[in-house]
Amino acid sequence: MNKEYYGKLIFELSREGRSGAAIPDAGCPDAQIPAALARVHTPELPQADEPTVVRHYTNMSANNFGVDTGFYPLGSCTMKYNPKINEEMCSLPAMASLHPHAPAETTQGALEAYWTLQRALSEIGGMAEFTLNPFSGAHGELTGLMVIRAYHDSWGDHARTKVIVPDSAHGTNPASAAVAGLKVVEVKSLPDGTVDADALEAMLDDSVAAVMMTNPNTAGIFESNVARITDMVHRAGALMYYDGANLNPMLGIARPGDMGFDVMHINLHKTFSTPHGGGGPGSGPVGVRDGLEKFLPNPRVVKNSDGTFGITASGEALGSISATLGNFAVQLRALSYILSLGKEGLAEAGLLATLNANYIKESLRDLYKLPIDRVCKHEFVFDGLADKNSGVTTLDIAKRLLDYGFHAPTIYFPLLFHESLMIEPTETESKETLDCFIKAMRDIAREAAENPEVVKTAPHTTPVSRPDDTAAALNPTVTWKELKNSAG
Ligand SMILES: Cc1ncc(COP(=O)(O)O)c(C=O)c1O
Repeated sequence: MNKEYYGKLIFELSREGRSGAAIPDAGCPDAQIPAALARVHTPELPQADEPTVVRHYTNMSANNFGVDTGFYPLGSCTMKYNPKINEEMCSLPAMASLHPHAPAETTQGALEAYWTLQRALSEIGGMAEFTLNPFSGAHGELTGLMVIRAYHDSWGDHARTKVIVPDSAHGTNPASAAVAGLKVVEVKSLPDGTVDADALEAMLDDSVAAVMMTNPNTAGIFESNVARITDMVHRAGALMYYDGANLNPMLGIARPGDMGFDVMHINLHKTFSTPHGGGGPGSGPVGVRDGLEKFLPNPRVVKNSDGTFGITASGEALGSISATLGNFAVQLRALSYILSLGKEGLAEAGLLATLNANYIKESLRDLYKLPIDRVCKHEFVFDGLADKNSGVTTLDIAKRLLDYGFHAPTIYFPLLFHESLMIEPTETESKETLDCFIKAMRDIAREAAENPEVVKTAPHTTPVSRPDDTAAALNPTVTWKELKNSAG
């Protein structure tokens, strides 16, 4: 059946009196509901038979796109494949059915898993201690900056109210700093994409609480001046914050703690292979170097001297940033991923992520503008097509990729270039998939030269073509009924 034709013909599937259930008469009198509580109107529920409902939802799910359906090179997001063993581990009934406030005596296995992940992340990040409580990367940033404030406040240094953030930083960095009550000051990047260390040095004084850095940065470039920067920031009395959203290529190779960072967060939902997208679910554990542990938030999981595990709270902590010990299902998935790959497997993942990104970059550099011509880490940025004569933009290229069956890369971020197209293939893609993507990108560049309209009006094969992004965000029509009403 032609789905498009059939779908247009009948979108409203409800038919008066149709039902998917045959409920026998219970043979007892109707319940006597007090008049004040009884419904006045029959609920407006769709009336449909079971096959219609099953087909409706199956077809809806087929309109979805995820790492389980295809290549998802969304830069800055690390959309790697999520091994199914992770799902099995977090679905174990003993774990999945735990109450978040169950007492420590009855949850020793879960607390051991939590504690083991804390230790594994501390080892991977080169930090003394981790809390797993924050629910996202941004939440981790806020928590980490609150730790930094608590540290300065602990010895009466209340004048440190500024945070220096590179112009290439993710938008959450300045936002988190502002929410933490700190003033944001921007430092510029050099043409090679790295932070201008001289400009940064000139900004350092005793009003600076911290410098936030992402390494590799959001252009996928390793900040080669990091040792010099951490040294000068520490000499100025400020702390170094590591945004670990880009930790993937560093896994098992280099540790933020060894680079001189004092506080960091990790996005478990990126680097440690747990499904995410569309705003959740996430987990943004925060690690600190030796001496800052006492400022981490409550509650905490500790290993007692008798080998049992407990939940504690400390009076020196910055307080509590979540009602519970965080997003336990995501933590379990991450632990499963770490234990199944092991130290060598994690390092290999980082290296392959780097290799794959460089392979795509080198295969397309003749057709796409490469503003930073360096070996990249796990991701890189093109500045649109090399030949701009057709007027085809990065948005058009991203839309056209949907027709070729790929999720679009990140577009118009980082803000360093006008036509940013940020590609992150991750390590879990085969050479065949990378080659198909490269071919699609080359075909799109050819189309832009020969028949630009086909690119400018893409996508042509998706259920929705080019929604008005702003209107969709500000004024979403989320139900069929609303759509029907608004159409009169
Ligand atoms: C570099 C960087 N930092 C921070 C974040 C924020 O992480 P989250 O989306 O989990 O809040 C992101 C998310 O994409 C990111 O790319």
